[in-house]
Amino acid sequence: MELYKSKAELYDKFISQSGKSYERVANIIEKYLKKTDSILELAAGTGNYAVEFKKKGYANYVCSDLNKELLEIAKKKTNLKCLTLDMKSFSLKEKFDAVLILFKSLNYNLNMKELKSTLKNSFNSLNTNGKLIIEITNPEIILSNPKSGAFLFDLDENNSLIHLSDVEGRFMIHYFMFIDKKTNKCELDKHKNYIFKKEEITNSMKEAGFKKIETELNGNTLFIIGYK
Ligand SMILES: C[S@@+](CC[C@H](N)C(=O)[O-])C[C@H]1O[C@@H](n2cnc3c(N)ncnc32)[C@H](O)[C@@H]1O
Repeated sequence: MELYKSKAELYDKFISQSGKSYERVANIIEKYLKKTDSILELAAGTGNYAVEFKKKGYANYVCSDLNKELLEIAKKKTNLKCLTLDMKSFSLKEKFDAVLILFKSLNYNLNMKELKSTLKNSFNSLNTNGKLIIEITNPEIILSNPKSGAFLFDLDENNSLIHLSDVEGRFMIHYFMFIDKKTNKCELDKHKNYIFKKEEITNSMKEAGFKKIETELNGNTLFIIGYK
């Protein structure tokens, strides 16, 4: 996952041109949270949600991600506590009022076993009455109308990016081709995501111990909220 390693500094440039609005999603999620809540964000990347929630007055917020390179950027941007951890295998002594898995990060679990493990770890990291909030692209849209696409991004004076995405059964494959404009050298980074159906996620949440599960659909974005 080089986009999230040597190319980490280009991640925000790509995102800022991709049409993703962190503010819009943070406004939706906010109604499930209290300003005093302690929050752990898994797979927080460069901390773009943390920036939004910090602006809104959430001070007790921890960013975590598998990749140190992204977290270093998150730390610089937010000055919040940052933990390097794998959502599939972490265990923390500290408990939180909310765990967040946002912007398709749940799709980096590549099978049901990994999904269940991530959900169980999230459950175990919550205080009693805590909640898990998940944001994904509505799987029904992707699976009923699988679309491939190619987009060109002019990232900065030195770098261009071609982003190709392709649906193969339940997998979505993203190809990121970075082009150095000065040397014309290319670097390819391939990301694999698994498209979980809504029921696969909600049933696995029940299995993990969540006693109540709500869903909210907003445009193409599906929110799943599990209450401990
Ligand atoms: C689509 S990005 C989203 C990043 C961030 N949440 C955002 O909204 O910009 C997916 C993130 O998942 C992280 N990731 C992938 N597998 C992971 C794992 N097993 N544990 C923790 N983070 C992981 C990647 O490093 C990346 O930051």
